[in-house]
Amino acid sequence: MNLKKIAAMAAVEEIKENQVVGLGTGSTTHYFIEELAKRNKEEELNILGIPTSYQSFLLANKGGIAITTLDEHDIDIAIDGADEIDPDLNLIKGGGAAHTLEKIVDYSADKFIVIADESKIVDKLGAFPLPLEIIPNAVKPVTRELNDFGAKVEIRMGIKKDGPVITDNSNFILDAQFPLIENPIQLEKDLNSIPGVVENGLFCQMTDKAIIGTKDGVKFI
Ligand code: 5RP
Repeated sequence: MNLKKIAAMAAVEEIKENQVVGLGTGSTTHYFIEELAKRNKEEELNILGIPTSYQSFLLANKGGIAITTLDEHDIDIAIDGADEIDPDLNLIKGGGAAHTLEKIVDYSADKFIVIADESKIVDKLGAFPLPLEIIPNAVKPVTRELNDFGAKVEIRMGIKKDGPVITDNSNFILDAQFPLIENPIQLEKDLNSIPGVVENGLFCQMTDKAIIGTKDGVKFI
């Protein structure tokens, strides 16, 4: 049983005709975009998609979902994955280095639903290293600031690419391992006030609903 797919399939049920849909990034949203594309064709739903990464754009395009932009349309609903989800539906995201655009899209949607398998549910955020997208020139000073916050920091390196991961916005990613995060709402604000940080992967107070794939079926939070 693929728990990511179970959550993704349930999320497709939330989408209505003629909606503008924010398309998240990652392996869970991969299933969502594929299924949405299928239903969009079969049921002539007339969906417009706003992708959160080049990867999601390619997938949506392949499935025939018409693409639009934030300049042209407001978003009715966004569906996205997460690396960790706490009991208040605060999230860590950015495992796919796409969290900057994901946050813009998810935040601006009328309704934001996170989809995940049950392994992503935690009591407290922070076991997953927190991703920060940063301006390449700012590696040293931002690392120093993060160390002062008590985090161990690694620059994310490419796979099948020498050197650092380059984001869709031509920036670098720092992965910051904090002790467990006691106050994610405050930390999200504090980290974004460090010069050189473009966006951090904490998504606090913005999730309307979580759809979780569990061994016992779909759970809604
Ligand atoms: C990408 C993300 C993803 O949504 C997050 O990493 C979860 O990915 P997956 O669905 O593959 O577990 O934030 O930046």
